[in-house]
Amino acid sequence: MMAAACPGTLRPPAVDAEAVKAGMRALAAGVTVITTCADGRLNGMTATAVCSVSASPPRLLAVVNRATASHGLIARGAAFAVNILAAHQDRLAARFAQRLDQPFEGLAFAHGETGCPLLDEAAASLECRLHDRHEAGTHTIFVGEVVRVRTADAEPLLYFAGAYRRLAPQRSA
Ligand SMILES: Cc1cc2nc3c(=O)[nH]c(=O)nc-3n(C[C@H](O)[C@H](O)[C@H](O)COP(=O)(O)O)c2cc1C
Repeated sequence: MMAAACPGTLRPPAVDAEAVKAGMRALAAGVTVITTCADGRLNGMTATAVCSVSASPPRLLAVVNRATASHGLIARGAAFAVNILAAHQDRLAARFAQRLDQPFEGLAFAHGETGCPLLDEAAASLECRLHDRHEAGTHTIFVGEVVRVRTADAEPLLYFAGAYRRLAPQRSA
């Protein structure tokens, strides 16, 4: 006997892009700058679509729009670094949300072992070698093999409902 299909799964209703954006605005996210090193060039882009995949093997994923400069640089350099921004780094987030000619001018950073920039004062930096990629419409899901991690004792920067935020003080029980 054939299993009955769940109602609504055969022909999902078309959902308006603005409705999807409105729904996703309810998701508070940490803010990262994904840095790259390829073609003799360093770059960085602000990204919230970053997620842990597994600790062992060490994997994370980043969802990157094909229209960004970073997309080609990740693919060609076969590496990227995820810099998780600290609460005071909202100006860096705004800076790296634009395409820049001199992205790192005046910024304090170190070169990781992949060559990708590691931003000073980030809450954490995870260096990755490109492990796998999956195409998803306008975006590519890049899966990174984490090869080195640097952490600092810092509270994170958050992005929620179109604005940068900080954690509220922890409530006492
Ligand atoms: C808060 C915030 C989060 C973003 N998250 C992403 C993301 O996860 N993936 C993405 O492709 N672009 C994201 N963007 C847009 C990129 O930062 C933006 O397109 C950037 O200019 C790309 O730089 P590039 O072209 O130099 O690589 C985000 C922008 C903002 C402001």
